[in-house]
Amino acid sequence: MAKMEVKTSLLDDMIGVGDMVLLEPLNEDSFINNLKKRFDHNEVYTYIGSVVISINPYRSLPIYTPEKVEEYRNRNFYELSPHIFALSDEAYRSLRDQDKDQCILITGESGAGKTEASKLVMSYVAAVCGKGAEVNQVKEQLLQSNPVLEAFGNAKTVRNDNSSRFGKYMDIEFDFKGDPLGGVISNYLLEKSRVVKQPRGERNFHIFYQILSGASEEFLCKLKLERDFSRYNYLGLDSATVNGVDDASNFRTVRNAMQIVGFMDHETQSVFEVVAAVLKLGNIEFKPESRANGLDESKIKDKNELKEICELTGIDQSVLERAFSFRTVEAKQEKVSTTLNVAQAYYARDALAKNLYSRLFSWLVTRINESIKAQTKVRKKVMGVLDIYGFEIFEDNSFEQFIINYCNEKLQQIFIELTLKEEQEEYIREGIEWTHIEYFNNAIICDLIENNQTGILAMLDEECLRPGTVTDDTFLEKLNQVCATHQHFESRMSKCSRFLNDTSLPHSCFRIQHYAGKVMYQVEGFVDKNNDLLYRDLSQAMWKANHSLIKALFPEGNPAKINLKRPPTAGSQFKASVATLMKNLQTKNPNYIRCIKPNDKKAANIFNEALVCHQIRYLGLLENVRVRRAGYAFRQPYEPCLERYKMLCKQTWPHWRGPARAGVEVLFNELGIPEEEFSFGRSKIFIRNPRTLFKLEDLRKQRLEDLATLIGKIYRGWKCRTRFLLMKKCQIVIASWYRRYSQQKKYQKIKSSAITVQSYIRGWKARKLLRELKHLKRCNEAATVIAAYWHGTQARRELRRLKDEARNKHAVAVIWAFWLGYKVRREYRKFFRANAGRKIYEFTLQRLMQKYFLEMKNKMPSLSPIDKNWPARPYLFLDSTHKELKRLFHLWRCKKYRDQFTDQQKLIYEEKLEASELFKDKKALYPASVGQPFQGAYLEISENPKYKKLKDAVDEKIIIAEVVNKINRANGKAASRIFLLTKNNVLLADQKSGTIKSEVPLGDVTKVSMSSQNDGFFAVHLKEGSEAASKGDFLLSSDHVIEMATKLYRTTLSQTKQKLNIEISDEFLVQFKQDKVCVKFIQGSQKNGNIPTCKRKNNRLLEVAIP
Ligand SMILES: Nc1ncnc2c1ncn2[C@@H]1O[C@H](COP(=O)(O)OP(=O)(O)OP(=O)(O)O)[C@@H](O)[C@H]1O
Ligand SMILES: [Mg+2]
Repeated sequence: MAKMEVKTSLLDDMIGVGDMVLLEPLNEDSFINNLKKRFDHNEVYTYIGSVVISINPYRSLPIYTPEKVEEYRNRNFYELSPHIFALSDEAYRSLRDQDKDQCILITGESGAGKTEASKLVMSYVAAVCGKGAEVNQVKEQLLQSNPVLEAFGNAKTVRNDNSSRFGKYMDIEFDFKGDPLGGVISNYLLEKSRVVKQPRGERNFHIFYQILSGASEEFLCKLKLERDFSRYNYLGLDSATVNGVDDASNFRTVRNAMQIVGFMDHETQSVFEVVAAVLKLGNIEFKPESRANGLDESKIKDKNELKEICELTGIDQSVLERAFSFRTVEAKQEKVSTTLNVAQAYYARDALAKNLYSRLFSWLVTRINESIKAQTKVRKKVMGVLDIYGFEIFEDNSFEQFIINYCNEKLQQIFIELTLKEEQEEYIREGIEWTHIEYFNNAIICDLIENNQTGILAMLDEECLRPGTVTDDTFLEKLNQVCATHQHFESRMSKCSRFLNDTSLPHSCFRIQHYAGKVMYQVEGFVDKNNDLLYRDLSQAMWKANHSLIKALFPEGNPAKINLKRPPTAGSQFKASVATLMKNLQTKNPNYIRCIKPNDKKAANIFNEALVCHQIRYLGLLENVRVRRAGYAFRQPYEPCLERYKMLCKQTWPHWRGPARAGVEVLFNELGIPEEEFSFGRSKIFIRNPRTLFKLEDLRKQRLEDLATLIGKIYRGWKCRTRFLLMKKCQIVIASWYRRYSQQKKYQKIKSSAITVQSYIRGWKARKLLRELKHLKRCNEAATVIAAYWHGTQARRELRRLKDEARNKHAVAVIWAFWLGYKVRREYRKFFRANAGRKIYEFTLQRLMQKYFLEMKNKMPSLSPIDKNWPARPYLFLDSTHKELKRLFHLWRCKKYRDQFTDQQKLIYEEKLEASELFKDKKALYPASVGQPFQGAYLEISENPKYKKLKDAVDEKIIIAEVVNKINRANGKAASRIFLLTKNNVLLADQKSGTIKSEVPLGDVTKVSMSSQNDGFFAVHLKEGSEAASKGDFLLSSDHVIEMATKLYRTTLSQTKQKLNIEISDEFLVQFKQDKVCVKFIQGSQKNGNIPTCKRKNNRLLEVAIP
């Protein structure tokens, strides 16, 4: 339910007060308690008017989700609970809709959450502004500039694991639609001393650790670095790793971000080379070497590191080596070269490292700016985000703190100026009379520091430029003289100081009473740091480097552009850039985020009141509230005001028809609020005292409760009434339905009773009638039956009489016939001989035979010997005759058929007969051969010139000439041969050449073997000991095996008068040279189609697989 509530004001569900301006009573305690209460409820943001106070939660809260972005998008500032998004939205919308340039000033001490806040602002604006490929790229580049700058400009300090060690101001530029075009980043004073030395418990800049942890071995090798932190003097070792920070993965993020921002590969490479060079510079060490003049000159201890740096950066080693040992001073065209002692050499080395790094950082900013700068020249709207180091008070405060605090002093001033200005402008806009507000103006402190004649920075510059011996002490002395009377300056030595005897103030210190508290500065190092001296020899050595980036970083090293004028001091540079910044900010509409750090432990949920109190004091937040409240504490446009409080007055509740302002007037008069408590502006009502607002809120709350009760009451009454009416209506419906139902039942009962009674009566009547009818019918039927019986009796009697009459007549006829017969038989008996019966029988038989043959004559079948037709037998007694006749007829017609044959045909049929005797029912192949005529000469030996040689070699008549396959004894493979059978010989010849391979006289052929199956294999066995048998028997295969065997058999018989043995068996032996091999026929697969395959299985077995 709570989620569904729609908030319309920050006053809804407020924890403590969301806007400090409404705090009653207003004092430091109540201020802190309010912050604490809100912090404990995870409300880290609180307003002072339009200023956002942000307390670092030190843990991620679920208040930055895309849903939250949507919630705050396009809502008025005071509509929802305080949030950094509300401020970002307000700033972005007034930039887009009212064309006002904006700046967002984020201040607070180190670790208070400024950088995070600036990133939240940027990400919010990126989320709500326009979309599109180009715009998204700009957004992405702007956002990705952060990781790059953080890697090079942030470091772990005791206060913050990711402390920004530079000030940053970023202008984001938009077009008229509010789409981002690009940006410009300005950086302020990088804390470069960190490069060479870090306080205890702190680290150098992140990038050094990131490279060493995250770069690949190969890349490290290229940069001549080693992964070990302890190898580098510039890396403090006591806290080289930070909890929860993964340097290696951050390194990848940085490289990726550099790529997105638009760094070319060679640029990235150069940047890392410079970083590596800086790291390696720290490892150069010096030793004293006595010179003839008695002075010590420094010499580099181990030149290895120097060599590697020079290789990495392309600097001439001897030039750099010299620059660490000598210093050239040029004055009025005179060059004086002096040697450096060891201390000076270290100073020069560190100065070089610091300068290299800080210049690299500035170069990075310039390079990023080049990438992200707006591409168009159209007029731009600008939103500046300032994330600058906060006010710092350490135990030892040095030049850096002085500069940082000066910057904060300036920011406070601009804050006061702009806040008051804004307040004043609003009063004028709204037509409200301006009342003067008392507040502390820190202009006097700014003047103490930046005054061109008497300011501390001017003194310092003067001291640095002065000839003669200049030390930090002479500078302090000068300060003591000039600033002694200033109310915000204190020092032990100042003549008129009230603290002359204040022993808490050491000799070499001075104290400034800043707007945020007193800070004591150690004067040591001020002069050096202000001078920021880099020996010219070093800058010239750098300029000579064969490394485009390093060369570009040291333009002053170019001897052609030698400038004898001293470069501007660090202090004056900073003053100038702060002045530019202030000028820039003044043209913009300011939005403030004041960050507060709740504890020193970087821990969540701890609220250290003393620490917060200190920050509130120096941030001047209480004063801020007072300034805001000096006139009117609360203001609100008329419409929302009327909408919020209209229920408090009868005339305005529930609807006010007139203008909102008149409604508010009526409302306030009705409520009796004293006139001095409020003023009517043009568009807003101004309430002087928070009490009045809270009174209004209380009344509203009370009234809302009353209204809620009233609404509840009416609602409950309405609900009961509607329920009652509904029940009544239901009851009537139910009753009517019930009545109808019961009447229906009753009616049905009566109706069914009547029907029952009726049916009984009708049944009884019907049965009575039926009985009567049946009686009548039976009477009628009885008469008929009697009549019928009577007629029947009559008819039967008549029939009997007629039958008797007929039988008598027939009996007479029969007796008569018998009598006649008897008489005839007696008369003719004497005429019949004893064998008359036999004659009759024979005659009958003869007649039947006659008929049979005559019929047969007409039914005779054709003369074809294969015609199987034969007429059916007419009489059983003719059965054998009929069969015999059929046989005779068949023999006769066969004879007739044979008589037609020529001699040749006769020969063929003789052969076929022979074949039939040899193979019928013995070999499965036989039936298929019956239809094939035996041709004998399949090859035309005499006609074909190819066989001329063969023809010449054989002079006998050729009986068979055919191509056969000769099976190889070794492997069972087949080879083609011409098989010739002549009267006396069997010949095998080569198929191609026709040369005769073997010739066997028929007398030497002893046997022919073949299988009983459907194959063409046959073996020709030869007589043992004969000449032909020396090569062994022939195993052949032919399509005409039946013909061949038959012809071989016949020829042998006619020549030798001996019957050739033809063996039909599925397993027989064949003589192959010396061995006897068994040829075995088996049933094989159909793999090779229908062709039998022959395979030599072993020495003694040749297997023929028949499909
Ligand atoms: N809104 C926030 N939500 C969660 N954690 C935060 C938030 N703001 C700050 N932090 C935590 O506090 C740490 C310090 O914040 P940040 O770096 O912004 O401080 P800073 O004010 O910029 O400090 P410095 O002046 O040293 O740069 C962050 O690293 C983060 O862990
Ligand atoms: Mg920061």
